[in-house]
Amino acid sequence: MNIQEITKVLSTVIHPENDKSVVELGLVQNLKVMENYVSFRLVFKRSDPMSASLKSACVKALKEAFPGVDVDILVLVDAGGATAKKKAELGKEELENVAKVIAVASGKGGVGKSTVAVNLAVALAKKGYKVGLLDADVYGPSVPKMTGTEDILPEMIQVDSPLASDDPSSEHYNEKKNLMVPVEKYGVKWISIGYFAKPEQALIWRGPLACGALKQLAYEVYWGELDYLLIDLPPGTGDIHISMISEIDLAGAIIVTTPQNVALADVEKGINMFANKDVQTPILGIVENMSWFTPAELPDNKYFIFGKDGGKKMAEKYNVPLLAQIPIVQSVMEGGDKGTPAALEDNTIVSDAFAELAGKIERNL
Ligand SMILES: Nc1ncnc2c1ncn2[C@@H]1O[C@H](COP(=O)(O)OP(=O)(O)OP(=O)(O)O)[C@@H](O)[C@H]1O
Ligand SMILES: [Mg+2]
Repeated sequence: MNIQEITKVLSTVIHPENDKSVVELGLVQNLKVMENYVSFRLVFKRSDPMSASLKSACVKALKEAFPGVDVDILVLVDAGGATAKKKAELGKEELENVAKVIAVASGKGGVGKSTVAVNLAVALAKKGYKVGLLDADVYGPSVPKMTGTEDILPEMIQVDSPLASDDPSSEHYNEKKNLMVPVEKYGVKWISIGYFAKPEQALIWRGPLACGALKQLAYEVYWGELDYLLIDLPPGTGDIHISMISEIDLAGAIIVTTPQNVALADVEKGINMFANKDVQTPILGIVENMSWFTPAELPDNKYFIFGKDGGKKMAEKYNVPLLAQIPIVQSVMEGGDKGTPAALEDNTIVSDAFAELAGKIERNL
């Protein structure tokens, strides 16, 4: 199953009004094919009464041609300049009200991606920015716990759907869609699959489902206006990750690592993931986490438990900035467990390190 074959099948789906196929009409955009999963957008120039039936016709044709295929189609209206209000509504969905989207990633698990993402979000909010964080770790979400919001169920609100029409005879008359309202705490808007699934529910999703859940989390959230949206990615660098992030227009990526003699290959994979032709995202730099251990009572002592300067050397090797070296501090781990990120404090080694990181992100972008 490849793009050509899918396009061929979609070419049999005809718009009844002008006898042309959805492919000929240029309605099919962002076509992605992975294993057993097809996703694309049907983009209409204006609200089209046929959109829903064309969508079902595409699903039907694909399922007939490829039994068992998963199909995910997003119907959009590209309102152009004509209907500015609709466009604004669409903008929310397309993250257009979000100035800068930054992915926090690593080739490796357990190096502190979530810790860095959550604390950076708090540090940016402390600087007065409007910040959101999307916990993209749909397999093992940790943001609700790290922010002490795990008992909150996000509210839903209704807005006009992009297809909504004022014409009572239209099938989209007054059509609404539901959006999740992110949970607000510490001046940051948080959203995570963890708010909808209990921690003990193992989220063992197949790739396509994970991608679908992430897209929903990214696009079906009422973010409002944001200066920064951080995305905390799950560990790994596979196709799933590439497919997840290729949909989203990223301003840059931060790679987190420990100084340990980790296989440079892991970080290389992390960096390469963002160089992928579908992603093409600049690397803002490397954050070396757990750089050394500093006992609270001996703030000037550094113990290089996991080795020294591994992240720094990697940054040099790959010619990207070393953005921060964050020490191992008990309050970081405790803050994560208690839901009070260490960056909330003032004038501590850790909060200063995150404030400096936030400053670099602010300047680099
Ligand atoms: N600088 C630090 N000092 C002390 N503890 C830390 C530090 N950074 C992270 N930790 C702790 O290490 C553990 C792993 O961190 P975290 O969950 O952020 O890693 P991760 O890379 O997001 O993991 P995963 O790959 O599972 O998503 C957590 O218990 C966290 O509190
Ligand atoms: Mg994590």
